[in-house]
Amino acid sequence: MRLTPEAGRPVALGSIDLFDPDLLASGDPHSVWDVMRSEAPLHRQVLPDGRVFWSVTRYEDVCRVLGDHRAFTSERGTVFTQLGADDIAAGKLLTSTDPPRHTEVRRAIGGRLTARAVAHWQDLVRRAVVRFLEPALDGGCWDLAERAQQLPLIIAGSLLGIPESDWEKLVQLTGMVTAPSDPMFGLGSEAATLAIAHHEIFDYLSDLVRRRRSAGTGGDSLLDHLMTVRAGAGPLPDEEVVYDSYSLILGANATTPHTLSGIVLTLVEWPEQCDKVRADPSLIPSMVEEGLRWTSAACNFMRYATVDTRLTGGTVPAGEAVVAWIASANRDESQFTDPHTFDVTRGENRHVAFGFGPHYCIGAPLARMTARIFFEELFRLFWSIEIDGEPQHLRSNFIAGMTHLPVVTRKRAQV
Ligand code: HEM
Repeated sequence: MRLTPEAGRPVALGSIDLFDPDLLASGDPHSVWDVMRSEAPLHRQVLPDGRVFWSVTRYEDVCRVLGDHRAFTSERGTVFTQLGADDIAAGKLLTSTDPPRHTEVRRAIGGRLTARAVAHWQDLVRRAVVRFLEPALDGGCWDLAERAQQLPLIIAGSLLGIPESDWEKLVQLTGMVTAPSDPMFGLGSEAATLAIAHHEIFDYLSDLVRRRRSAGTGGDSLLDHLMTVRAGAGPLPDEEVVYDSYSLILGANATTPHTLSGIVLTLVEWPEQCDKVRADPSLIPSMVEEGLRWTSAACNFMRYATVDTRLTGGTVPAGEAVVAWIASANRDESQFTDPHTFDVTRGENRHVAFGFGPHYCIGAPLARMTARIFFEELFRLFWSIEIDGEPQHLRSNFIAGMTHLPVVTRKRAQV
């Protein structure tokens, strides 16, 4: 996704198609959202097949829609790509469940993913990152965005206890779910791609849980934890163990690689900001926060209104879908000074890249730690990063990212 709006680009809101994956892949969405925030903060679009959705683009409205589960349910689906298709996992998949069940399950899983808990995995994450970066030490051109897709599973796969031989297959299947119309992932129509991917992932995870049960649990992986933890009145049923493992894999895979490659591209485009961080690596955590705001890989999440609900730009009728554009909220001028400036020293960075409210990203501490370690190691191993070809953007109306980013990285003499 183009991360800096083109100055003075005319925007005709009446003809903008926010559902079109090419808006993120090759358009200039920030120019569109800038105009929407000021002129049409509550925007309605009807697709040619009759499906309707509303869009909110202001920080305040995005927080309201994501945070108010009574007025905006997650139980009819939260992924824009699947607009209008009722969610068969409602009430079973963490992301598609409202409180109070959501609170019970979240509490059961969340204890293993707090900042304090994930700090124990720091060495594992560092080893995975170094293993990931080492092949680039030869100085040749390599595709950072394509390779980065493997990284979250090297980490989440180890944590969940998924055999390494299956990681690559899961990377491909989760890519099919998040970007079914991208040439790298699509298999015929979007619907067919989604159906095949869902079927194969659930088959795989159900089989893994079955085999683990018959071998006897007792291990220390996150999957063992899910299989033994109590949520509410009883243990998590195996069906929910499968769904929640799916949520964790998808949550990690769909976003982390695009955040990392997006920040790398941004550092090349803003060299004076990159120099600041190289000169003072203690800025890496604040650079990561600014990078999360700037790239907003989870570009939007969807909800359905349960009652007629008033937002800043008007009223959303009960029953209709509302898309909360996180990437736009993260550039809202009422919340961020100079929102279209990438500033690694930005203070008070209350971005919503990890969402807001009850569904706030449960993997945020792990994602933050992974990104911090990734940039610590990148700067330690290499003294320069150059782009060596055209970046290829992901064709998705949900996730903003890249499928290809050819780079040349030059290693430090002492490495
Ligand atoms: C930079 C990386 C990441 C970004 C930008 C991101 C973004 C988000 C956002 C915006 C949400 C809110 C969804 C909603 O409101 O419906 C979310 C939820 C979630 N994320 Fe992440 N995520 C990242 C990394 C991860 C990782 C590493 C994991 C797994 C370890 C993960 C697992 C999840 C899960 C399971 C949920 C659902 C939480 C719930 O429904 O309570 N995410 N993420």
